[in-house]
Amino acid sequence: MKISPSILSADFGKLADEVKAVSEAGADLIHCDVMDGHFVPNMTMGPMIVEAVKKATDVPLDIHFMVEDVSFFVDMYKHLKPEFISFHIEAEKHINRVIQKIRNEGIKPSVVLNPATPVCLLEYIVADVDMVLLMSVNPGFGGQKFIPSVLDKIKELRELAERKNPSLLIEVDGGVNDKNAPLLKEAGADILVAGSFIFKHSNYSEAIKALRCE
Ligand code: DX5
Ligand code: ZN
Repeated sequence: MKISPSILSADFGKLADEVKAVSEAGADLIHCDVMDGHFVPNMTMGPMIVEAVKKATDVPLDIHFMVEDVSFFVDMYKHLKPEFISFHIEAEKHINRVIQKIRNEGIKPSVVLNPATPVCLLEYIVADVDMVLLMSVNPGFGGQKFIPSVLDKIKELRELAERKNPSLLIEVDGGVNDKNAPLLKEAGADILVAGSFIFKHSNYSEAIKALRCE
């Protein structure tokens, strides 16, 4: 199980130190939540902040766009060469076009589903992405309660992926902790995003280890 700490719950007053600390604690990716104040009622980090995060670590970046104008945001962040760019299918009319645009930059494309968005919408998308991110909270804020229906969605997506894209990675984001991590692993998740569970823990490396369920 790979772990992608969401720096949304980090102390922004010492962001570079926080990024270094989770990197040394064993993070596999650094999850950067980019919000535009339109798709979700919150605003977080612009490209300058994400650039500062990148400078603080060698761990690859995992950018999660919660934005309406996805293509505009891809252009604004593509020079940072993250490992993944994830965008919400609820936000974009031309999903296939944006997937190709991200891939043409040498970045792995990923699509995100809100808790209420069904897996069947991925039927003709899943073969073209490296990862699908399933939200287990309504996007916009850290520290919310886990929505357990994501467990069935993971299983359904795993079945779809077996038919159409066996190497697909499934990432889960929102309310992840040491209690639900074993259930997420059993359901078929590959990468867990966790914000408050890691950054509120007194020992980041213990928190990451607990989420890996090894
Ligand atoms: C929510 C973000 C998440 C959030 C997770 O909109 O996408 O990445 O930071 O935070 P926790 O783990 O506290 O739910
Ligand atoms: Zn996120």
